[in-house]
Amino acid sequence: MKPPPLVPAEFATTNGGTPFSVAFNDVYHSAHGGLAQARHVFIQGNNLADRWLQQNPFVIAETGFGLGLNFLATWQAWQDAGKPCRLHFVSVEKHPFHRDDLARALAGFAELTPLAEQLLKQWPLLVTGFHRLHFDEGQITLTLLFGAAQMQLPQLSAGLDALYLDGFAPARNPDLWSPDVLATLTRLSHPATTLATWSVAGELRRTLEQLGWSLERRPGFGNKREMLVGRYATANTRKSTWPAVPKRDCPETDSRLRGVSPAPTFRASPGKAIIIGAGLAGTAISERLARRGWQVDLYERNAAPAQEASGNPSGVLLPLLTRDDAPAARLSHACYRYALRRLTELPGVRWSPCGVLHIARDAEHELLQCATLNELNLPAKLVSFLNHAAAEAQIGRPLAHGGWWFPEGGWVDPVSLCNALLALGAERIETHYSVTVARLEQTIDGWQIFDSADNLLGSAPHLILANAQAAQALLPCPVPLTLLPIRGQISYLEKLADNDNHPPLRHVLCRSGYLTPPESGAICIGASFDSGDSDLQSRLSDHEGNLQRLEELLPGTALGINAHSLTGRVGIRSTARDRVPLVGTLPAPLSAKDMEQATLATMPRIPGLHVLLGLGARGLVWAPLVAELLASQLADEPLPLEAALVKRIDPARFYLQALRRKNVSNNADL
Ligand SMILES: Cc1cc2nc3c(=O)[nH]c(=O)nc-3n(C[C@H](O)[C@H](O)[C@H](O)COP(=O)(O)OP(=O)(O)OC[C@H]3O[C@@H](n4cnc5c(N)ncnc54)[C@H](O)[C@@H]3O)c2cc1C
Ligand SMILES: C[S@@+](CC[C@H](N)C(=O)[O-])C[C@H]1O[C@@H](n2cnc3c(N)ncnc32)[C@H](O)[C@@H]1O
Repeated sequence: MKPPPLVPAEFATTNGGTPFSVAFNDVYHSAHGGLAQARHVFIQGNNLADRWLQQNPFVIAETGFGLGLNFLATWQAWQDAGKPCRLHFVSVEKHPFHRDDLARALAGFAELTPLAEQLLKQWPLLVTGFHRLHFDEGQITLTLLFGAAQMQLPQLSAGLDALYLDGFAPARNPDLWSPDVLATLTRLSHPATTLATWSVAGELRRTLEQLGWSLERRPGFGNKREMLVGRYATANTRKSTWPAVPKRDCPETDSRLRGVSPAPTFRASPGKAIIIGAGLAGTAISERLARRGWQVDLYERNAAPAQEASGNPSGVLLPLLTRDDAPAARLSHACYRYALRRLTELPGVRWSPCGVLHIARDAEHELLQCATLNELNLPAKLVSFLNHAAAEAQIGRPLAHGGWWFPEGGWVDPVSLCNALLALGAERIETHYSVTVARLEQTIDGWQIFDSADNLLGSAPHLILANAQAAQALLPCPVPLTLLPIRGQISYLEKLADNDNHPPLRHVLCRSGYLTPPESGAICIGASFDSGDSDLQSRLSDHEGNLQRLEELLPGTALGINAHSLTGRVGIRSTARDRVPLVGTLPAPLSAKDMEQATLATMPRIPGLHVLLGLGARGLVWAPLVAELLASQLADEPLPLEAALVKRIDPARFYLQALRRKNVSNNADL
């Protein structure tokens, strides 16, 4: 189902200067000070300073991001406490501010300026769904859920340690305090989760108690006499009418909040993983795990990273658009926006957000492109439609048609990206080049890998297959991944032959193929697309095909170029049948009895065996966010994507489909 478009908040203040919502007829924070309120009610109310010393990572969820004051105050308190743990802050917001309005609102909090500037720099486009931002070298992660809490929170997969309940007054904003919203948050809580809120409304207290929370009133802030703190206690004698499924397995502690630390005394220790394949997939997941303190052994059969599909001099970064905003398109948008954020902060990557024009095939396609954007209602900063004349003006050359203009899309050198990721994680990533992994074996502690002479190469509790098309052959049991090889050949041009009446090409052009600008180092025309073909020999016919693609993109440009004179590069894309990646833990073979009721959620998994595969023709777009997803799954952290999208790329989906079609025999080998 297509999510409703976001309605941004309108910035206004009371006569006293307190930020005010006309829509809700209420203030964003106490007139006695938003920052002091955040500290008193939410930070102290949840006893965070003590608990950060005892739990790592620590996860806070908030209802209503508003101006981000609570987030910024929490970030500041965490810094003042010496950054004692990795911190996740998840916040849902139905009416986010435009960046300029947020900047105006935060300008009144001078002591937050250094942090507010960082938030504003990364502030996402106002698009419904999850947005993950990293700060302080990845030690603080903010996951913004744009959209109504009732829609977004059920899509959240996380184990929450503390809740900030901070809607507008319950009487004016009942949705955000509804039993459903509170029940969803409770389902994500565990026996040591705490909550804090400035509201002591009777209905709120009754609902929370019904859900199994032990509540306590404390002195409130400003003109509020009281506030509420609570602890989720499964031992609570009151019967809950909602199912409460603790997500994390934590030891019970004292049930009283005051005077003792309610947090369990444990720290999750970072893990160890073997990763096979040093292309975009393998380097991205290596860096994400290393950033979390994991020790990574990365094995690659070539003498250097990014020598196979990820070895082109440049590739195009742009998302998929579909008129119905299909899950694959929504996934690609989330991945695209995250990739842009990561590329902006990564040192050493050769890339440019120079803009991509996706030219329509014909006049009918132009109309479809227009209609699609009308339906999707996306911000112009993400994509807009340029008619024929506007497109020619943008590109500065004659074109056959108008098209979609992605102002922040561009080209990326994938080799430099892989190297930059490895450099960033260097302290914890041990690379093993020119080593081919021939066999895997499961042990009581995890996984071992062997070479073709059956020498043991290494072992670790977790093993991640990021070796594209070669993964299926390494699987210890025949779980279908349905990966298809798709051969692709690109051609290099030394320069664009034209009559010099035109300015240099500065943008990327796409249609059935693509053309990268001279600035990208090599002008690349791509690419052939041969399903089921793994042949790595260069072909004249493919250079000819690429010249045709060039002619479609820039009419008149290919004339006079002899295909024999072209050089290029061949690579094999590895694609799942449904063209979206395979990310997560592999399913375990099912007994005949369990097959009947199997769902993705209940399907047993092979402990410690994970995949990041099927990046297909969009590895540059998918890799950063799906690597962040897999790392979050392994480290038991909040997931950066909606549950529906996580399911969409679950590596068990084809196995489940096969079971459902009863196309697989139910023998023990399956
Ligand atoms: C012609 C062409 C054009 C493309 N254009 C674009 C584009 O414009 N935009 C875009 O986003 N994407 C593009 N792509 C897709 C993108 O390049 C891929 O999605 C991406 O590179 C896949 O990365 P990967 O890490 O999964 O695979 P790979 O880069 O192939 O990495 C897999 C690695 O695993 C290693 N390996 C395999 N088996 C073993 C083993 N047993 N032991 C040790 N190592 C092993 C391999 O040597 C390899 O290095 C293009 C692809 C091609 C072929
Ligand atoms: C009191 S303000 C939050 C202030 C914020 N915590 C801060 O630190 O600045 C309440 C916020 O809840 C948001 N909100 C209201 N109803 C919502 C809903 N149903 N889902 C998500 N957010 C909602 C409002 O848009 C508003 O930004």
